[in-house]
Amino acid sequence: MTSASNDRAAGNAPLAIEYAPAPESKAVVNIRERYQLFIDGSFVPPLQGGYFPTINPATEEPLAEVALAGEDDVDRAVGAARRAFDEVWSPMPGRERAKYIFRIARIIQERARELAVLESIDNGKPIRESRDVDVPLAAAYFFYYAGWADKLEYVRPGPVPGPIGVAGQVIPWNFPLLMAAWKLAPALAAGNTCVLKPAETTPLSALLLAEIFQQAELPPGVANIVTGAGATGAALVAHPGVGKVAFTGSTEVGKQIQGELAGSGKRLTLELGGKAANIIFDDAPIEQAIEGIVNGIYFNQGHVCCAGSRLLVQESIADEVVERLRRRLATLRLGDPLDKNTDIGAINSAAQLEKIRRLSKTGEAEGGISWSSGCALPERGYWFPPTVFTKVEPAHTIAREEIFGPVLSVMTFRTPEEAVQRANNTVYGLSAGVWTEKGSRILWMAERLRAGVVWANTYNRFDPASPFGGFKESGFGREGGRHGLEAYLER
Ligand code: NAI
Ligand code: MG
Repeated sequence: MTSASNDRAAGNAPLAIEYAPAPESKAVVNIRERYQLFIDGSFVPPLQGGYFPTINPATEEPLAEVALAGEDDVDRAVGAARRAFDEVWSPMPGRERAKYIFRIARIIQERARELAVLESIDNGKPIRESRDVDVPLAAAYFFYYAGWADKLEYVRPGPVPGPIGVAGQVIPWNFPLLMAAWKLAPALAAGNTCVLKPAETTPLSALLLAEIFQQAELPPGVANIVTGAGATGAALVAHPGVGKVAFTGSTEVGKQIQGELAGSGKRLTLELGGKAANIIFDDAPIEQAIEGIVNGIYFNQGHVCCAGSRLLVQESIADEVVERLRRRLATLRLGDPLDKNTDIGAINSAAQLEKIRRLSKTGEAEGGISWSSGCALPERGYWFPPTVFTKVEPAHTIAREEIFGPVLSVMTFRTPEEAVQRANNTVYGLSAGVWTEKGSRILWMAERLRAGVVWANTYNRFDPASPFGGFKESGFGREGGRHGLEAYLER
């Protein structure tokens, strides 16, 4: 027996397996030097805005230059979307619209490898996740909503609801392709046309999606993509030709948009931050719960609005859970996002890494005890090791603020009532997890948790048929399922 397996037999060392590098080939994707705006079915240069770089966060190397859309470009895109709405897309029978959306879904599947590699390069997420989660789910959302395009009369009782018009959609960088699918698929199925603005650090997969629209022969102007930063997003949201705004991102910007749109008559849905409780009862299947905790907060480097960032453990098993969790975390492999063995990829940007570091320091200063897995961090790029904070009190900053990184705050509870009280003690309300053997307790908890999604004995599971969205400062409106169509239909 090796010393590692001796230790393992003694139950105190991780299962340290050596893996040979297994990098996915970059050759499947052709990254251009420069990307233009996608307006009215063509790639066009910006009228005056210039270009900005997007980088690979795992290496800090520039990947490409991307067009910066100004107000005039946004105006062109909204104009194209309006014409396409009036002349082509909204008069088209739903069963015809469905064919285009199905075609998009099928091409996403055909080009899945290309999309996954590009997503991992631009975003920093492990290829295992982009390949197995982001891309297949993006295809699934298009497939699902394609099926609704000719069935809008069944969305709700009463007269057949019609589309709103042009949807202006602003998305974040944590699931770039998947968020584009969440926004575009229901909007297009309902008969709206779209102008989508991807996040400035992750524009490339949406621009590949634009190529897929061309390949699917989607009529020009039906879906337009304008790249740029906050100012481009703000111009889109403010444009008078936009009838419906959908935003996913920070609570701060979400609140600002809500203020600006008040009284404008524009429809709005917001999907903002979260500080979800992942609640482990003493009768939970512990091994599964440990995996659920890992998936809850370390998936996608914790850049997940519904991440289980507050672990609430029943006091009697808290020490055991934390100990087992540390052992599990010591086995996670951090590094090259394109390596198929990688569990933890790069933090998306220098700014996000700075935020994670700042909040972790605050956590320590306020009395939390921090533990990080001892994994080596690459020299270049943006990295943060999987981290667990114990001795966290509900009043601590790291128990209240969204960190959006691989940092877990552990707290304990004694009774189910206390678990509910602690879980709901947040300004957010997007998601929660409950781990227990008792079905009755799951239902009891789900009734009391103020969260849009409650996962039972699992975490971070998504399905296009299932609505997703928040309470309180996590926003309003639902994406996914029949509910997700409501946002894109006239009242
Ligand atoms: P952000 O809210 O600034 O960015 C999200 C998107 O909104 C991007 O496309 C951005 O260009 C755009 N945007 C920025 N300002 C805008 C404005 N005034 N009008 C219209 N669009 C605007 O978020 P950021 O700075 O990338 O991340 C900050 C924090 O927000 C993160 O640390 C995290 O806590 C949270 N966040 C939450 C997300 C979620 O999924 N709920 C996603 C991204 C960030
Ligand atoms: Mg990037």
